[in-house]
Amino acid sequence: MDALAAASGGTTNRRLHAWVGEMAALCKPDRVEWTDGSESEYDRLCEMMVAAGTFIRLDPAKRPNSFLARSHPSDVGRVEDRTFICSLSEQDAGPTNNWAPPAEMRATLGGLFDGCMRGRTMYVIPFSMGPLGSPIAKIGVQITDSPYVVVNMKLMTRMGSAVLDALGDGAFIPCMHSVGAPLVPGQADVPWPCEGDIHRKYIVHFPETYEIWSYGSGYGGNALLGKKCLALRIASVMARHEGWLAEHMLIMGIESPAGEKTYIAAAFPSACGKTNLAMLVPPKGFEGWKVHTVGDDIAWIKKGSDGVLRAINPEAGFFGVGPGTNSRSNPNAVATFARNAIFTNTALTDDGDIWWEGMTDEPPAHLIDWQGHDWTPGCGRPAAHPNARFTAPASQCPCLDPDWEKPEGVPISAFIFGGRMSKNMPLVFQAFNWSHGVYLAATMGSEATAAAIGMTAMRRDPMAMLPFCGYNMADYFSHWLNVGRRVVNPPRIFRVNWFRKDDNGKFLWPGFGDNMRVLKWIVDRVHGRGYGVESPIGWMPRREDIEWTGLDYAPKTFYDLMAVGREAGTVEARSHEELFDRFFDRLPKEFIFERELLRSRLWRSADQWELAREE
Ligand code: GTP
Ligand code: SPV
Ligand code: MN
Repeated sequence: MDALAAASGGTTNRRLHAWVGEMAALCKPDRVEWTDGSESEYDRLCEMMVAAGTFIRLDPAKRPNSFLARSHPSDVGRVEDRTFICSLSEQDAGPTNNWAPPAEMRATLGGLFDGCMRGRTMYVIPFSMGPLGSPIAKIGVQITDSPYVVVNMKLMTRMGSAVLDALGDGAFIPCMHSVGAPLVPGQADVPWPCEGDIHRKYIVHFPETYEIWSYGSGYGGNALLGKKCLALRIASVMARHEGWLAEHMLIMGIESPAGEKTYIAAAFPSACGKTNLAMLVPPKGFEGWKVHTVGDDIAWIKKGSDGVLRAINPEAGFFGVGPGTNSRSNPNAVATFARNAIFTNTALTDDGDIWWEGMTDEPPAHLIDWQGHDWTPGCGRPAAHPNARFTAPASQCPCLDPDWEKPEGVPISAFIFGGRMSKNMPLVFQAFNWSHGVYLAATMGSEATAAAIGMTAMRRDPMAMLPFCGYNMADYFSHWLNVGRRVVNPPRIFRVNWFRKDDNGKFLWPGFGDNMRVLKWIVDRVHGRGYGVESPIGWMPRREDIEWTGLDYAPKTFYDLMAVGREAGTVEARSHEELFDRFFDRLPKEFIFERELLRSRLWRSADQWELAREE
């Protein structure tokens, strides 16, 4: 082996060497380090970050081998305004993506990256999205100047030397990343270097050349480029060309007491309950039922040799929302991050553990908040950032599905789509057929959460992919319509909403474990044994079609939860038009007719369509 190959994990991949050399010449780091993905490398980088003040080691007795990082207050979530799809033509990016001419963007990036790693180490991270060697998996190589990114990539992906072996002389997706904070000689570093000026942050995708360039942020989806940038934005483009789907979906297996296993994939916008649903603990009344987790955020879905759609989780870890997660709402997540975990922007307890809003009923009497300041209950500030997150290996999840790394994936029987809607949208209903289901998914709305910076109101979030689709969404809708035509037993499609509220702002539905009651009806429908009625918007369970054992739930509340108002429904249908108008002639024809059918059914129904009246 020559010296160059030896210094680079043994790879002789010429394109990779050429690219790394070119990027080093551009970014001018003090040194280049090829990561091998080993435990010792992970430990060394964590120690280094403890010494630098980036990491705080948590109490080894309470939280073994775990660390807390506090980001810069300007760098706390995905920056959708600064995310670009730079296709050759603006129409191919579509009206829902930011676009800039690729040549112009390349010039901008060339200027920003020139010398951007001065005083820093440039790390080279080979990683695989999907089990190594799976026919569905894709290999990327991320270059970064952030050791925080390296250790997070170790938990979130299959990373290191084994990936180089699998890569051989093959093609990889280049993922270029810098926090955008070069150091002049003698300048002291800060715990969380990043570009403070939002207008100089760029998360850029070149969909024709399958390239990613990210500058200025060290946080989450902005910086862990395997996740949203590769596994969703670039993969969605690949999937369209190759006839599969890359989706913002959890994957779970539901096992009945009789041992029947049903896999479903479910799309919810960011911070709307994917991790919780994927790790659900069945409630009282569901003894003998089991839920198995395959993934909590991203699904790659392809037709198998039997013609059935199969899904893999391209990730190897979870980057989950902290606040609200506790041993009642999600005990499996709590077990998953019990050790070997990285926490970002949580509060620190006086005894060296982490805390966030909703972790315990009573907050501790004193904390250090996510910005490093003293915190006491009632001081008026949240202790953890609302988008505080944990990073933990999937292998530590107690309910992980035994088949989660099956190279060919698990067979999907249902797709569920659910936004966060406090008004009007019922708990659950089923699409009449595939094209109606795609319509329901495409018109999904959701209210603001903390996962994306700057979002304030309800917005349409088709398939929960608004921030993640790497091409024109009208073409994406057509692709979805086509996929259903090409598979055997296309998954049944459902809409759910755990978030409907009463007039006092209280959730009408208990949610969390009790969502199992809805899942059971979905499983029954999939297997052709669940009953339901046709409402104006889709098939709905009657009260007696839901398993209520163990939950005392007033019939009236259920009817309120399921009601469809004619007026509100018509306003809703009208606002679908506003979404569709943006796509002009690329919008699938089916959607125009689906909307008219919806309006017609609403006109024919009562002012307030109620299950109670139907029964
Ligand atoms: P990303 O990782 O951002 O893609 O999001 P996610 O969809 O995995 O989000 P997660 O499961 O972490 O959702 C977290 C938020 O949803 C928390 O505020 C939870 O309390 C809330 N949540 C989850 N499930 C339910 C539910 O059934 N009912 C209610 N009311 N809230 C829920
Ligand atoms: C999301 O925002 O949907 C996430 C978190 O899953 S991040 O990785 O930061 O995008
Ligand atoms: Mn997500």
